Amino acid sequence: MSRKIIVAGNWKMNKNAAEGRALVEALKNGIAGLEAAEIVVCPPFTTIGSVVEAAEGSPIGVGAQNIHWEANGAFTGEISADMLKTSGVQYVIIGHSERRQYFGETDETVNKRLVAALAAGFTPIVCVGELLEEREGGKTEAVLAQQIRVGFAGISAEDAAKIVVAYEPVWAIGTGKTATPDMAQQAHAFIRGELRALFGNVADDMRIQYGGSMKASNARELVAQPDIDGGLIGGAALKADDFIALIREALAL
Ligand code: 13P
Repeated sequence: MSRKIIVAGNWKMNKNAAEGRALVEALKNGIAGLEAAEIVVCPPFTTIGSVVEAAEGSPIGVGAQNIHWEANGAFTGEISADMLKTSGVQYVIIGHSERRQYFGETDETVNKRLVAALAAGFTPIVCVGELLEEREGGKTEAVLAQQIRVGFAGISAEDAAKIVVAYEPVWAIGTGKTATPDMAQQAHAFIRGELRALFGNVADDMRIQYGGSMKASNARELVAQPDIDGGLIGGAALKADDFIALIREALAL
């Protein structure tokens, strides 16, 4: 079992084309010696083109923040696999809690997007995680189980091997409140158990990222946990120095 650490920056609704290009240029200069990590940036749609250009020839992968399941048609505001593919995208974030909270994303739509992303050959980054009231009500495991069982329905073990899961406790996102390494490890181990129930031993090769106020000062102890295989980073991915410092810590350098 060897799982390569994957650190992905989710830029959310930040960075226009010029700003995205500048950030990637700065990242390129800082990633020498960090090849042990798979490094990904996920800009907004209109910034993808300039970021792909800037990242060319570097090990930085580029991801999108959403994908629709239909090939084309009357779906205002959505984006298709082909549009992303021909823009040079390799990764796709699916089911981020902000999409679930503000834009009506459900486990069922997550599943449809996941099927489309796999069919198009992307590496999907599927987000799961509980709300504060769910954690306080002792429902964390039930919520994660539901998100995984429905979100991953009908996926083959062969395809599952390509999926990255991101555990993002919603109460830790953008709040400065990180899950403790123990708390995060417990959730990650539970998630891996659910994946094992669905996909057998393939679960041992699947990467599970932690997300939620991860930064350079806590990345090392989080990624040191046996079932934490990297991070999905919001705020600390928006400045090159912060992101590089975080990756170094995740690699325990
Ligand atoms: P923050 O790192 O800003 O808490 O965001 C985490 C996140 O939602 C990444 O997808």
